[in-house]
Amino acid sequence: MPRLTKDDTHPVRFTLNGRPVSVRVSPRTLLTDALRHEIGATGTHVGCEHGVCGACTVQVDGEPARACLMLAQQAEGCAIRTVEGLGKSDALTPLQEAFREHFALQCGFCTAGILMTLDALFSRQPDAEEDAIREALSGNLCRCTGYAPIVQAALAARNRIKGGPIDA
Ligand code: FES
Ligand code: FES
Repeated sequence: MPRLTKDDTHPVRFTLNGRPVSVRVSPRTLLTDALRHEIGATGTHVGCEHGVCGACTVQVDGEPARACLMLAQQAEGCAIRTVEGLGKSDALTPLQEAFREHFALQCGFCTAGILMTLDALFSRQPDAEEDAIREALSGNLCRCTGYAPIVQAALAARNRIKGGPIDA
C-alpha cells in the first residue's frame, strides 16, 4: 500500500477547549490520534480503540463521544472539549475535587473519560440521581475501583454543583 504524503492530508478546524485549532490529517486519522499525536493533548486516553472501554471519551458540542470511533475530519466546525478543558491542578472543578476527596481513581487510566462523561451529564441534568449517574457511566469501564467511589464522588460533586455540601 502506498504511503500517505502531505498531499493526502487535509486541514480540519475545530475548537479545542474553547481555542480554535487547525490540523492537517489524513482521511483515516482518528480524533484520538489527532488530539494526542498532532496537537499533543494527551489527556484523552486510548484503551481498546474499538468503542468499548470509554477511556477516550471527549465532548463534541457538549455531548460525550468516543474519540476512537470518530474520524478527525468529522470534528470540522465542532466544539471539542477534553479533560484539559476542565480545571487546573490549582483550581479543580467540583467534580475533579470530589474525585480526589473520595479516592475515585487508582491507576487513573479511565478517569479522563469518566470525568468528561459526568461533566456532560451534570451540564444537562444537574440534579441527576444515582440511577442516572450509573446509566451515564455504563459505557466507561474501570478495572480498578469497583465503581463505588466513582459514584460516591459523582453524587458529592452533584451536591456541590447544586450549592449544597460536598458530602453525598
Ligand atoms: S479507546 Fe475508545 S472506547 Fe476504548
Ligand atoms: S482507576 Fe484504573 S481503570 Fe479506573
